[in-house]
Amino acid sequence: MASKSDVLICTTLQCKTVQEMVTSMDTAKTEGADLAELRIDSLSVFDILLDVEKLIKQKSLPVIVSFRLGGKEDKRTCFRVLERALELNADFIELELEVASEFLANVNLDNYPNSKMIVSCHVDGTPIKDELSLIVAQLQSTGADIIKLTFDAVYITDAAQVFHLLSHCQVPLIACALGDRGLISQLLCPKFGGFLVYGTIGSNPVPGLPMLGTIRHVYKVENLNVDTKVFGLIANPVGHSKGPLLHNPAFHHAGYNGIYVPFRVDSMEEFFRIYSHPDFAGFSVGIPHKEGAVRCCDEVHPLAKSIGAVNTIVRRPTDGKLVGYNTDCEASITAIEDALRASRSANGGPSETSPLSGKLFVLVGAGGAGRALAFGAKSRGARLVIFNRNYARAKALALAVSGEALPYEEINGFCREKGMILANATAVGMQPNTDQTPVAKEALGAYELVFDSVYTPRNTRLLREAEEVGAIVVSGVEMFIRQAIGQFNLFTDGKAPEEFMRKVVLTRF
Ligand SMILES: NC(=O)c1ccc[n+]([C@@H]2O[C@H](COP(=O)([O-])OP(=O)(O)OC[C@H]3O[C@@H](n4cnc5c(N)ncnc54)[C@H](OP(=O)(O)O)[C@@H]3O)[C@@H](O)[C@H]2O)c1
Repeated sequence: MASKSDVLICTTLQCKTVQEMVTSMDTAKTEGADLAELRIDSLSVFDILLDVEKLIKQKSLPVIVSFRLGGKEDKRTCFRVLERALELNADFIELELEVASEFLANVNLDNYPNSKMIVSCHVDGTPIKDELSLIVAQLQSTGADIIKLTFDAVYITDAAQVFHLLSHCQVPLIACALGDRGLISQLLCPKFGGFLVYGTIGSNPVPGLPMLGTIRHVYKVENLNVDTKVFGLIANPVGHSKGPLLHNPAFHHAGYNGIYVPFRVDSMEEFFRIYSHPDFAGFSVGIPHKEGAVRCCDEVHPLAKSIGAVNTIVRRPTDGKLVGYNTDCEASITAIEDALRASRSANGGPSETSPLSGKLFVLVGAGGAGRALAFGAKSRGARLVIFNRNYARAKALALAVSGEALPYEEINGFCREKGMILANATAVGMQPNTDQTPVAKEALGAYELVFDSVYTPRNTRLLREAEEVGAIVVSGVEMFIRQAIGQFNLFTDGKAPEEFMRKVVLTRF
């Protein structure tokens, strides 16, 4: 196995005063930074050279002293700041490409063996590949110890340019695709040999940059190397995802060399065209891509095909083909079955056949989760009645599973028999609307078991009221845990640390 990465974790500090910068540096250190970039141009100063001296004397971390150019006057100030930083043995100084040769014509770096020089360039917009290679050549020709290139990511696929440059560069390179869609350029750069990863301190989030604490404790980027397999959630938006908080600790716990990141994807086709390397090994799929994912896969598991939604994609190692699955279905149905079995065994022993067989399964909701539940229940021999706000959608699903569709308004008066199963697959009751419920308490007495796919909150109003009338209740958290375990097993060929994953969800989510 390749060795660990020696990537540094850096935070950029822009502060009005020296004191604020020193305090922020201390915070950054506490949160896991190895290095702080001090943006001297951000200080509102009276004596800039004195301030540089104070900062270097009080530093709690190795520092990059940088000064971004603005007006005409700035160049002179910039040079004075950087020269002073060199005299004070700053660990790194950073200057921009456009002034690098002028600065170096006047300063002999051999006199400052303790400081390393970074020459940087920011390209406005997203440059084309050849343009970037040209800039990298220019940066290298300055003789800098480390070179740095940043540009704006319009699409997540732009970050691939960072990985390409990192893999081919002859000198240490810092490269960053900026913005929300460029986040993976930071999280994955240690795999491709990046010199450092930028993160932000918790109190000062910046869109598109990970937090220092998350880099250190969730992604553990120092463990990445060239062999690391990349997994992640393809969705849009994707910022709310809890997947990284579960899958990364699980990889670590299982001793599996993988990382799980958020992929904010606009076009799945384009994403898979660009990220076609075998190391981009597996994907969860979220809103709005679950249905489109069926078309993007080379092969789709029959169950996922019937459901019409893929929530997991694995790149098959043997031939690189993308294979689609749906782990929502088994996750929700086995959670319901296990709860019924547990109650039956308490009342007289388990049975071989599914406890759902022959049961009347009342489903509210006909979206992605509803379809997974409907096909799962049908596969276990249950009879289905489907309610959905959009009646046409309920009818289409009922037709697909040989069930019956009824108007949404009739759910509270529905009581065809005793001991039915109720499954909520709508978003009703989900945060922030936790006071809502899809079925009135008075109607719940007819159900033996009530399942709610909503998992935020864990205990919904529907579940609380069902429990009050004596039904068995199953939370959406159970489905969440099981679908994640199912995904992890598909990603790693059956290595999910189930108890650990369950504990992570129940204690940290
Ligand atoms: N526990 C888990 O692991 C897990 C996994 C996936 C999903 N879920 C949960 O399942 C729920 C549905 O997700 P999904 O992926 O199926 O979403 P989806 O495809 O967008 O479907 C949303 C469903 O909710 C219904 N709905 C939304 N707002 C409603 C309202 N105000 N009143 C009545 N019905 C309403 C929709 O009815 P219309 O067709 O009439 O719009 C549709 O049936 C969400 O709460 C989600 O968090 C949980």
